[in-house]
Amino acid sequence: MHILHVAARPEALPCRDEEYQRVMRAVEELLEEGSGGCVYISGVPGTGKTATVHAVVRELKRMAEQNETNPFTYVEINGLRLPEPSAAYGLLWEAVSGHDAAEEGHLKISAKESLKNLTRHFGGGKRMGPGGHACVVLMDELDQLMTSKQDVVYNFFNWPTLVNSKLVVLAVANTMDLPERVMSRRVRSRLGMIRINFQPYTTPQLEMIVRSRLEAMKEGLKGDLQDVISPDGIKFAAMKVSSISGDARRVLDICRRTVELVQPMKRTARTEDVRDVIKVMQNSPTAAYLRDLSFHERLLLAALLKCMKREGIEEIKWADVQHQHYLYLGVLAGNGDSTRNPTIGELAYVLDSLLASRAILMEDGAIASRKPDGERRVLLNLEQSEVERVLGEVGGQAWKNALSVS
Ligand SMILES: Nc1ncnc2c1ncn2[C@@H]1O[C@H](COP(=O)(O)OP(=O)(O)OP(=O)(O)O)[C@@H](O)[C@H]1O
Ligand SMILES: [Mg+2]
Repeated sequence: MHILHVAARPEALPCRDEEYQRVMRAVEELLEEGSGGCVYISGVPGTGKTATVHAVVRELKRMAEQNETNPFTYVEINGLRLPEPSAAYGLLWEAVSGHDAAEEGHLKISAKESLKNLTRHFGGGKRMGPGGHACVVLMDELDQLMTSKQDVVYNFFNWPTLVNSKLVVLAVANTMDLPERVMSRRVRSRLGMIRINFQPYTTPQLEMIVRSRLEAMKEGLKGDLQDVISPDGIKFAAMKVSSISGDARRVLDICRRTVELVQPMKRTARTEDVRDVIKVMQNSPTAAYLRDLSFHERLLLAALLKCMKREGIEEIKWADVQHQHYLYLGVLAGNGDSTRNPTIGELAYVLDSLLASRAILMEDGAIASRKPDGERRVLLNLEQSEVERVLGEVGGQAWKNALSVS
């Protein structure tokens, strides 16, 4: 179950050899030339984009340690985890100026100041980077950094191309056309961006991904071991997933849950078991409950999820959820949804109904009740991945993008 978990980090990534090599060659070349550049990686969720870039960076770090390539500083910026898009500037400036945030904490300067520093730095054509090293940046979930002015995304595409920038940006997004949306054709051709699209996985590929994880596990254990799940069962799961999304996370999830279900019986999971699990995942009481929620109830859950991902914690201040709710209102309201800003009092009603059904829990007790409402923390009481999936299904593409699900 552990090795099938999406959080497990396998040594090798089957079916992504070609993509791995292309990213590797591109970055290696830029490091060797001592120049900068942008590699744009697109693909729907769960196609191994982040995993591939991580594998490349791990290998490059190893190479740099052995003097097989030039040393570089590495920084990871994740669009989902930033309080707002312009916060990316601060993180990049820390990396470029050689500030060690892990040791000394974040720099206390505004996004505006960071932007000014970066513009001066890259515009000056001189490198004051840490030891003149190149800086490799993974800009993950770039879609989340799109603003109406598109300036953040534009800058991250543009800076690597300035003379002597020594900035290598690995931009990862779900959509293929971000460059088209933020830049004119003329600018695009000047940038000479390298573009790699990750196709959704096919049935045999998804089978391979699950089987190779299990086989790697088996090799490490001695003795004649019974399979935890039959080859047919894996194939069935792979088929189901590839017909909808080609998302490796989904197939790993289904197989893990199937193994979990069958494990007490100490037998190999079969196709029927996989079928049962898929049915349960589709028709769970939670899914049915979520589908019946009102627009603002769903929006509030989406806002809570966004805050959880951004802050990396589970308990979120009610005021932060409210703020995100208003931000999402403009983005996620579809045909027939009311886009009128609800009052804080109305939002409290929405929260109350979610509290009543225990989809959300709120900090309680004597101390909490003395706090102002906005300071009290709320907590999602449902399984996060399931809420994301169902909200995405109900809300359509804009919701899927916002929640980062396929
Ligand atoms: N080729 C592969 N072999 C083994 N595991 C894989 C492979 N591709 C993806 N995975 C696993 O699937 C999960 C999702 O992969 P990853 O996070 O790289 O997707 P992604 O394309 O970055 O998705 P998103 O757009 O949602 O960020 C991870 O647990 C990863 O280890
Ligand atoms: Mg990713």
